[in-house]
Amino acid sequence: MSPTTAPTVTLPHGAAMPRLGMGTWPMDDAECERVIADAIALGYRLVDTAENYGNERGVGRGLKASGAAREELFVTTKFNKKWHGVELAAEAFERSADRLGLDYIDLLLIHWPNPDQDQYVEAWQGLARLLEQGRVKAIGTSNFKPSHLERIIAETGVVPDVNQIQLNPGVTREGPRSFHAEHGIVTQSWSPIGGEGVDVLQEQVVVDLAERYGKTPAQIVLRWHMELGLTAVPKSSNTERLAQNLDIFDFSLSSEDVAAISALDKGESAAADSDAFGH
Ligand code: A2P
Repeated sequence: MSPTTAPTVTLPHGAAMPRLGMGTWPMDDAECERVIADAIALGYRLVDTAENYGNERGVGRGLKASGAAREELFVTTKFNKKWHGVELAAEAFERSADRLGLDYIDLLLIHWPNPDQDQYVEAWQGLARLLEQGRVKAIGTSNFKPSHLERIIAETGVVPDVNQIQLNPGVTREGPRSFHAEHGIVTQSWSPIGGEGVDVLQEQVVVDLAERYGKTPAQIVLRWHMELGLTAVPKSSNTERLAQNLDIFDFSLSSEDVAAISALDKGESAAADSDAFGH
């Protein structure tokens, strides 16, 4: 049987990104190497890492061990605030590419805006230059609020391909999602099934829907992201759960069921505040 692969979405600057990928936080190098080769055999094509996760070397080794052709893969990484500058962003790229063992990166993100430092516009200019040079196929941000996005768009005229934000049924981020939609930015959900602790999966509405659809709670929640037009990077280190998380493209949720899940939202204040936190 050929493995399931996720459908892709075309990003504003033209790259095709799988709608579902594999998150790697908080796996270490050794775990990444093992799990990624497994995930790619299962059909995953997108792998999401970051300088800050400290596992890019293991990710690179896992990609290589998978035997998959480079052009089949979509690799995302992110850089820390010390690289917020035009030249600095280029150096961040070089270092990540070197650790990953890649000569280009599919999607490079500013990990957090760090508005206190006030250098994210320069970091964004650096990313725009890397895109022009073809060293990355797509550029984006992570944890940017609409106010941060407004500023980089106004000052550079370049729209991010992706903004990756904390998003799950407990924090549905309606405001950011509609801002992204207005500007054509693709929303990517981090901690899509609720992160460690995974309380969302124990919510009665999710458990009941899982039973009704004959799916697992995680599949119901990941399908909810797809129904909302989102993309997502769930993390699992377990082969069975990895397979389960990718196997969500053969059913759909009714709009009433999507709304029932969205009603779990605790509001914007439940999300990490990127004006106060970042690295
Ligand atoms: P594990 O790696 O042992 O599977 P998120 O991606 O939203 O941050 O969630 C990650 C957490 O959810 C991890 O603790 C992961 O544990 C767990 N997890 C991932 N997939 C599933 C699943 N299908 N069912 C239950 N828990 C899952």
